[in-house]
Amino acid sequence: MIEMNSFICGDCMDYLPQFPDKYFDIAVVDPPYGLKEHGGKNRSGYVKQKNGNRIFVKDGGYENRGWDNETPDCRYFDELKRVSKHQIIFGVNYYDYPLTGGRIIWDKCNDGSDQSDAEIAYCSLNNRVDIFRYMWRGMFQGKSITEGTVQQGNKKLNEKRITPTQKPVNLYRWIIKQYIKSGWKVLDTHVGSASSLIAYSEAGIDYIGFEKDPYTYRLANERLQEYKQQITLFDCGMEWLA
Ligand SMILES: C[S@@+](CC[C@H](N)C(=O)[O-])C[C@H]1O[C@@H](n2cnc3c(N)ncnc32)[C@H](O)[C@@H]1O
Repeated sequence: MIEMNSFICGDCMDYLPQFPDKYFDIAVVDPPYGLKEHGGKNRSGYVKQKNGNRIFVKDGGYENRGWDNETPDCRYFDELKRVSKHQIIFGVNYYDYPLTGGRIIWDKCNDGSDQSDAEIAYCSLNNRVDIFRYMWRGMFQGKSITEGTVQQGNKKLNEKRITPTQKPVNLYRWIIKQYIKSGWKVLDTHVGSASSLIAYSEAGIDYIGFEKDPYTYRLANERLQEYKQQITLFDCGMEWLA
């Protein structure tokens, strides 16, 4: 059995069968949407700001990793439901699988400048629609205009983006706060940039994550280890202070 807090480079479908029924308390997953958003597109261009100014936003220059040609089939979703008690599944609007239940909307506050204004997840924990507003627009990252802040104000605080479909660590921090109970075991079958695992490590939540693409895995694992070292350094510092 894979130990908790492992990040594995491999196809999740090769590993899920080894887990007993309902082994994980929750699966928070972000599988391919079938939109070919796996890199290889130059998205550089001018973006109009609220004040009418146009600014040039440079594309991240991501390589085509070829993983977003199609959505997972029903075997994946059946297996996910077998191994986990609860599920949060991003991209619910793209899947040909019955996922009736709650919805989470992540409003990217991007004024139509990105692939999609918002992303939608299925949430098995309730039947509500919950909204998280967090700007994710090239170099503009942070809270929404309605929450009083347009951006963080300090670009150094921005998350470095390593993959084209990277989600903010703050989205996962919010998910933890809203839905995940202390002591729960979490599964992420499609880790990508490791934003999820960074948030789980920080919160002391046990996880197992899978990423199939070796190139993405290397970048994501480096990012995760870097964050873990920062957390350790911070902890040491606090001990020293005490
Ligand atoms: C939508 S992205 C995940 C984005 C992630 N939430 C983030 O914040 O970076 C999907 C990822 O799943 C990986 N992937 C695709 N099929 C997979 C599979 N069968 N098993 C494991 N990883 C897979 C892709 O290489 C890609 O990195």
